Amino acid sequence: MATYLVDLSADVMRERLSEALTVYVEAMRYPRGTEEQRASMWLEHTRRVGWKAVAALNGTDLLGVAYGYSGAPDQWWQQQVVHGLRRTGTDPERTERLLGDYFELTELHIHPRAQGHGLGEALARRLLAGRPEAHVLLSTPEINGEANRAWRLYRRLGFGDVIRDYHFAGDPRAFAILGRSLPLD
Ligand SMILES: CC(C)(COP(=O)(O)OP(=O)(O)OC[C@H]1O[C@@H](n2cnc3c(N)ncnc32)[C@H](O)[C@@H]1OP(=O)(O)O)[C@@H](O)C(=O)NCCC(=O)NCCS
Repeated sequence: MATYLVDLSADVMRERLSEALTVYVEAMRYPRGTEEQRASMWLEHTRRVGWKAVAALNGTDLLGVAYGYSGAPDQWWQQQVVHGLRRTGTDPERTERLLGDYFELTELHIHPRAQGHGLGEALARRLLAGRPEAHVLLSTPEINGEANRAWRLYRRLGFGDVIRDYHFAGDPRAFAILGRSLPLD
């Protein structure tokens, strides 16, 4: 059966939340039980301004999910990025340019059995198509040599470095914040 992409309404995301969280946990190889920890956050995100989600389906089987929303100053993630930009001595005008008008690509995950066939890129392109924001920003774990599918995908899509080796409050892992202007080419 052919795989196809759809936009998810907030209602459908809520109905299919546990399937979406299973894709996320298996793609990220997080321990079982992470689904329950993240559920309320994913639900809260569906109510944010500019929220959009897309999915890859095969029949009724959910193979991939991606979502994001418009960035805003009251969001923890933006506050963390502002802090990181200040620490790296970024010109406040550049900070304002980047953070004044952006879409946060919050989650993008393909189930391991469906990875490696271009679905992640197709979901990212569909999610970002027609966005009104001037930029897209995301965070992804630092990986030695940028040697994983997520990094290859983001570089292929033209994402550049905004902050490297950043530690979000309460998380021991190093992350990169990447971004680019919209629309994609
Ligand atoms: C990162 C992720 C979303 C990318 O999705 P994906 O579908 O695996 O990746 P892509 O769209 O880049 O496609 C993968 C490969 O298929 C190739 N491809 C592209 N179009 C294709 C097509 N039509 N047919 C076959 N292969 C194709 C690409 O060249 C790419 O090669 P590469 O990975 O060796 O560079 C996915 O691998 C994933 O969920 N990873 C784990 C979770 C994660 O890291 N999420 C992001 C955290 S920020």
